[in-house]
Amino acid sequence: MALATLILAVLVTISGAHGVLADDGDAAAAADVAMASRHEEWMAKHGKTYKDEEEKARRLEVFRANAKLIDSFNAAADKEGDGGHRLATNKFADLTDDEFRAARTGLLQRSPPLSSGAGGGGFLYENFSLDAVPQSLDWRAMGAVTGVKDQGSCGCCWAFSAVAAVEGLTKIRTGRLVSLSEQELVDCDVRGMDQGCEGGLMDTAFQYITRRGGLSAESSYPYRGIDGSCRSSSSASVSAASIRGFQDVPANNEAALMAAVSRQPVSVAVHGGGYVFRFYDRGVLGGAGCGTELDHAVTAVGYGTASDGTGYWLMKNSWGASWGEGGYVRIRRGVGREGACGIAKMASYPV
Ligand SMILES: *[C@@H]1O[C@H](CO)[C@@H](O)[C@H](O)[C@H]1NC(C)=O
Repeated sequence: MALATLILAVLVTISGAHGVLADDGDAAAAADVAMASRHEEWMAKHGKTYKDEEEKARRLEVFRANAKLIDSFNAAADKEGDGGHRLATNKFADLTDDEFRAARTGLLQRSPPLSSGAGGGGFLYENFSLDAVPQSLDWRAMGAVTGVKDQGSCGCCWAFSAVAAVEGLTKIRTGRLVSLSEQELVDCDVRGMDQGCEGGLMDTAFQYITRRGGLSAESSYPYRGIDGSCRSSSSASVSAASIRGFQDVPANNEAALMAAVSRQPVSVAVHGGGYVFRFYDRGVLGGAGCGTELDHAVTAVGYGTASDGTGYWLMKNSWGASWGEGGYVRIRRGVGREGACGIAKMASYPV
């Protein structure tokens, strides 16, 4: 017993003599090993492979930087007992900001601006009383939302956003829910400002669908996730849904947005390129940390109030069902002006 104590004392003395630097070095080395194995696990989970060791080492560095950002965001949120959202090292964790924005967002700035009244002007729901809208609403429960889709490595969020809004309106009007073709917009809506995987706008997508007299079904014109040549005949007879035009929700007005969303799914522009959105896992994404510079598009398919009393918008995204809450994100509602992540700046809907 005495001997054991003595040996232990000697060991402590020796390790103490090595000094602080050695301990820090050991800790850093251990953290490196832990991060490398976390990256391995992440690769296995997401079915990732890299072409060689060099690429893998480069991706590990990107993963490390993202993982640190995510961990410290979550630790701060936990410390504050924040009811807000949490992040995850999701399938985008080995991409740099630039790579991510190029591949996964794709909303063009509105320049030159569309002339006001491009959609016939007006706001259908201008006289709508908020007293008349339900406290919470989920268009999925009304069968007006198709399954979550995945834009892949193609910056055509604008097409997914517009299509989801048209799918919703079509269901509400005809009683039929039909998945519609984003690829037709990517391939065929190229004469104006929409540029397939290089970006576009929902309003101009609505203009294309209006002008052409409809949009094909997903089943007859499936998604490929790359720019292709248009293979849609301009005959309206093959279209699975049609619209008369579109309207813009008055900007920076969440009450107007609510009136519109209470009647139909609405296309919404957001700031989706930042890490608090990219790595969103669950909870209500608050205003802080999410910019309002618009670079991504989603579709508002409802709203409600979380158990802690926080109001939220329910948004359908196009990054697959493994992202966020089954492919959806809840974004804080009622923050005023531009809205959290800029959601009130540029919303529109087909009519
Ligand atoms: C809203 O009400 C005003 C005044 O009654 C009316 O002139 C206008 O047409 C209404 N707007 C809509 C979209 O129904």
